[in-house]
Amino acid sequence: MQSVTLIPGDGIGLEISKSMQQVVEATGAPIKFEEVVAGQIAYETTGELLPANVLESISRNKIAIKGPITTPIGKGFRSINVQLRKEYDLYTNMRPVQSHEGVETRYDNIDHIIFRENTEDLYAGMEEKISDDEMHSIKVITRQGSERIARKAFEYAEKTGADKVTVVTKANIMKLTDGLFLDVAREVASEFANIELEEVLIDNMCMQLVMYPERYHIILTQNLYGDILSDLCAGLVGGLGLIPGANIGDDIAIFEAVHGSAPDIAGQNKANPTALILSAVMMLEYMDLQKEADMIRDALEEMLKNPATRTADVNGTASTTEFTEALIKNLKK
Ligand code: NAI
Repeated sequence: MQSVTLIPGDGIGLEISKSMQQVVEATGAPIKFEEVVAGQIAYETTGELLPANVLESISRNKIAIKGPITTPIGKGFRSINVQLRKEYDLYTNMRPVQSHEGVETRYDNIDHIIFRENTEDLYAGMEEKISDDEMHSIKVITRQGSERIARKAFEYAEKTGADKVTVVTKANIMKLTDGLFLDVAREVASEFANIELEEVLIDNMCMQLVMYPERYHIILTQNLYGDILSDLCAGLVGGLGLIPGANIGDDIAIFEAVHGSAPDIAGQNKANPTALILSAVMMLEYMDLQKEADMIRDALEEMLKNPATRTADVNGTASTTEFTEALIKNLKK
């Protein structure tokens, strides 16, 4: 049995984490979830958003899965997600975005995977107040940070037989920061003779993705652009309820859905647990538990074909608990 840290999170986090845990346990995977609390609920009970026992558990288990955490907007609160990514140097954020049969959207057969640098850029948390009327945010891009994410994207392309990586920047305007990221991507690309590096500017990429999403597969980009493109791509395949993610460092990994705590539907048994369950599938694959990962993925695809077993965000009628029960039944078939 391997112990995995489980942070249920805030808002819909509680409902979807429970669903995910039940589904993973139903596969018989040799995993024991160790639950710890971070976020708003932890703040209300302990006065801390990220208590020390959470960090201790992740450091010990080395693998965690978390629900979304509400970050209060404004002064004094640093995003827990950003803190965790920095604390454990989880520099690779992988976000696969795929069409699902039965989920009707304007496009079919979309298969994107975003490789987002996860520790630098405007998310490095380096903001300063110059005066009441002037605030600065510092964009940090390093050779080391750019190189390791570019390498992950190219290695993934090589492993999966892809022939192209699309790097997305705004290097025509931010010549130093985005210029460095692009230069490093070109250097890394030169080591992979059979993989083309396609260069697209972020504004054009938004239009291209809406008009011709089928032209893209592996997308390599910085922290902020990656965050925005993830939501854009999510919209192409049926929304945020479907998109999983992995934050991976050299020896620690934290898996989480792309979406947030969805306060508008929290506590209503309406949330779609697919994104977190697919994040668990990525976790099982990372742990070499391929059989259990395939079991869940296959059952999920069946569920998404039928409106009676889909949740409302993807035009279905199932509640979170009905979805979970049906998925577990499908697993057993
Ligand atoms: P959100 O992703 O929570 O919600 C955006 C829209 O998508 C809402 O209409 C919501 O109902 C819907 N949605 C999201 N996930 C869904 C699901 N699984 N099933 C059905 N519908 C779903 O984004 P929002 O409202 O901007 O953020 C709410 C809070 O979440 C904020 O405090 C934000 O900081 C936090 N957040 C946390 C993240 C994390 O912990 N990784 C990531 C993004 C936001």
